[in-house]
Amino acid sequence: MKLAVIGHGYVGLVTAAVFADLGNTVFCVGRTPQKIANLKKGILPFFEPGLEEVVKRNLQARRLSFTLSYEETVSEADIIFISVGTPSSASGEADLSSVFEATEKIAKNLRGFSLITCKSTVPVGTNREIAKILNKFKPKNASFEIASCPEFLREGTALYDTLNPDRIVIGVENRKARDMLLELHKPINGHFVITTIETAEVIKYAANTMLATKISFANAMAMFCEVAGADVEQVMEAIGLDQRIGRQFLSAGIGYGGSCFPKDVKALVAMARRYKTSDVLFSAVEEINKLAYLNFTKKIVKFFGSKLKGAKIGVLGLAFKPNTDDMRDAPSIPIINSLVGKGAKVVAFDPKAKENAQKSLPTISYVKSPYEAAQDAQALLILTEWNEFKQLDLEKIKKLLKKPVIFDGRNIYEPGKMKSLGFTYFGTGR
Ligand code: UDX
Repeated sequence: MKLAVIGHGYVGLVTAAVFADLGNTVFCVGRTPQKIANLKKGILPFFEPGLEEVVKRNLQARRLSFTLSYEETVSEADIIFISVGTPSSASGEADLSSVFEATEKIAKNLRGFSLITCKSTVPVGTNREIAKILNKFKPKNASFEIASCPEFLREGTALYDTLNPDRIVIGVENRKARDMLLELHKPINGHFVITTIETAEVIKYAANTMLATKISFANAMAMFCEVAGADVEQVMEAIGLDQRIGRQFLSAGIGYGGSCFPKDVKALVAMARRYKTSDVLFSAVEEINKLAYLNFTKKIVKFFGSKLKGAKIGVLGLAFKPNTDDMRDAPSIPIINSLVGKGAKVVAFDPKAKENAQKSLPTISYVKSPYEAAQDAQALLILTEWNEFKQLDLEKIKKLLKKPVIFDGRNIYEPGKMKSLGFTYFGTGR
């Protein structure tokens, strides 16, 4: 098939690369000349394991191309994917300006028939708006169908997730659209859920909010365990063994970040309010997420008291999670800003996120290894659970630190072991 993918963020670029790799001809359309020029050379706008290789392979095979032009791509495509960003607006609602801008450009360049499929996470009713814009701006002789095909990939495992999805949700209005999407997804093993467009739109918010709810539940329990003298890791391990609950997404820590959970939970709160239905659970999920990083920061502030001013604090991990360089809504940002605001001097190491972190945290120092971050610091904070932090030479870390104090925001170490090594160790919820 011939596909056009509008947008080259995580969703757009991975979708384009995977479908090209499966043998389709894919045009990936962007609006930033520098990014498109780089993509043509195989230079990606973000780090994602394995993606660069797939992009380069398909560029070489000429199955994948990058362009700024809607004209030569949209008119040729059987299926056009909209996969542009839908960030939070000031009110918490999704900002749909990029979706509507792309839709208008698609409409003006439609020729013959195309299926317009929205992969961006969009509030209920957006696909109907897309159809209205298409009707308004399309040439008379062009025709289209719309579909909603939400994406569930995770950063860091995006290729694997796209090729091995738990489910493929196809929201359509008729058989023609359904069959085209079933045909395209044929080589991918996944359980298909064929549904209406509105239900598909809600499924995406429901999935992300459910996962965020599990994380906030674990974080609320962590705060409770801290005062009750229990160990949240064991509590989650035990309840996770109940197959009705499951262990995944119950890791307590400093809260969820990234480009999806924070904005999607906010958008669901805004939607619920707009429809005048209860947002109480969704708002609580968001509130607890803030409490998670505030609780972590409070422990550090309490430990240091007035001595925080001027104290050197080492930080391991800045990205919102491991295996990504993404700093969007990373909990490291409010934690570090709060400590810097109280006079601490922060020295940080992250294996991949330094460049992006410098934009959000321009005043702190960056070093090239975890050991450099520990050097002469009064305490070491673990903010992202990169694998390379899990088996550090802790004797060496202890010698490098001015005081052997660790605040572990991701529970990567065992409290008993840390104590026996002579650390003053603060885990989360244990
Ligand atoms: C998420 C969804 O998993 C994915 O299906 C959707 O398409 C996009 O949003 P992503 O944002 O890449 O993916 O990251 P994810 O691995 O889900 O983690 C999100 C955040 O939750 C991270 O900050 C992570 O540290 C945090 N998290 C996750 C926890 O704090 N505890 C957990 O148990 C799991």
